[in-house]
Amino acid sequence: MKEMDNCNGVLFKTRETVDKSINLVVKDDDGKQKYQVDEIRDRVILGDAFKVLKKIDDAVFDMVFIDPPYFLQLPNKKLRRWSVKTVVEGVNEAWDKFSSFLEYDKFIQMLLTEVKRVMKPAATIWVIATYHSIFRIGKIMQDLGYWILNDLVWVKTNPMPNWLGVRFTNATEHLIWAVKDKKSKKYTFNKEYAKAFGIGKVGANVWVLPICWGDERLKDSNGKKLHSTQKPVELLKRVILTSTKKGDLVLDPVAGSGTTGWVAHTLERNFVMIEINPKYVKGIEERFKQPFKMTDSPYPSKTLIDKYMNLKEF
Ligand SMILES: C[S@@+](CC[C@H](N)C(=O)[O-])C[C@H]1O[C@@H](n2cnc3c(N)ncnc32)[C@H](O)[C@@H]1O
Repeated sequence: MKEMDNCNGVLFKTRETVDKSINLVVKDDDGKQKYQVDEIRDRVILGDAFKVLKKIDDAVFDMVFIDPPYFLQLPNKKLRRWSVKTVVEGVNEAWDKFSSFLEYDKFIQMLLTEVKRVMKPAATIWVIATYHSIFRIGKIMQDLGYWILNDLVWVKTNPMPNWLGVRFTNATEHLIWAVKDKKSKKYTFNKEYAKAFGIGKVGANVWVLPICWGDERLKDSNGKKLHSTQKPVELLKRVILTSTKKGDLVLDPVAGSGTTGWVAHTLERNFVMIEINPKYVKGIEERFKQPFKMTDSPYPSKTLIDKYMNLKEF
């Protein structure tokens, strides 16, 4: 951390790794009827979230983070940048393909229904998406009875460049933060962190930070990007520090490269992750061999960000 201000500077250093005597990965199979929380705490379940969630009891999680498929609807051809002709690395994986909005909505609706059941009464849920799907997701959440507390806007300091020049550079993603229903009042909200991470004096609901880059990007055995939508550690750090307490149990049912569990573990929270793709689960196993260390300071610092946003006068 180069910059430290407006924060506590608390250094989190946790257990060396998840208990080495136990395998991090639990492989789901159809013969398995039920998961007790103790057998899946701090584990990654290799399996289909729709099947796995059904095997978990009601009301066990304190917080849920979901980064679902985007349904970007990219054409089935290589996109090249207009002037430099380099290939645009989008999200072309099979997991992001749906035949229609109807099919996508059904996926989201089923996932959010099952997740609601496993949330404790005072739990909160975060769902992140781009403009491609966030509005559909918000409607589905409201239809399911979730009560939206905030939407956080993530402003990317290093967004993908606008290569055709026919619309604005898309530099944001949205995070919906919600409770199970309007009656949920006793949820965790660590307002000091919210103030430290949000922009301006009031700590508004805008987070400015880079997309995952440099050494943080996980690589597969061929040295290629492990996951096309790996989320930055800093983003999950903010999500977890603002909405959970030490020892809480955090669920990520579509875990990808495992950012949620890795950050939760580092910040002394517990986690359960579910991911259907064995390649990503292997990547998560490798990730958990890395040392855990983090401070609670925002990066980039608030001073730098307020300068970037030109908010000093406000
Ligand atoms: C947007 S990515 C998540 C990225 C993750 N937040 C990270 O930081 O790496 C969505 C993930 O959902 C997974 N997925 C899709 N359908 C699934 C299902 N039915 N069960 C479990 N995982 C699923 C995909 O394999 C993909 O890795």
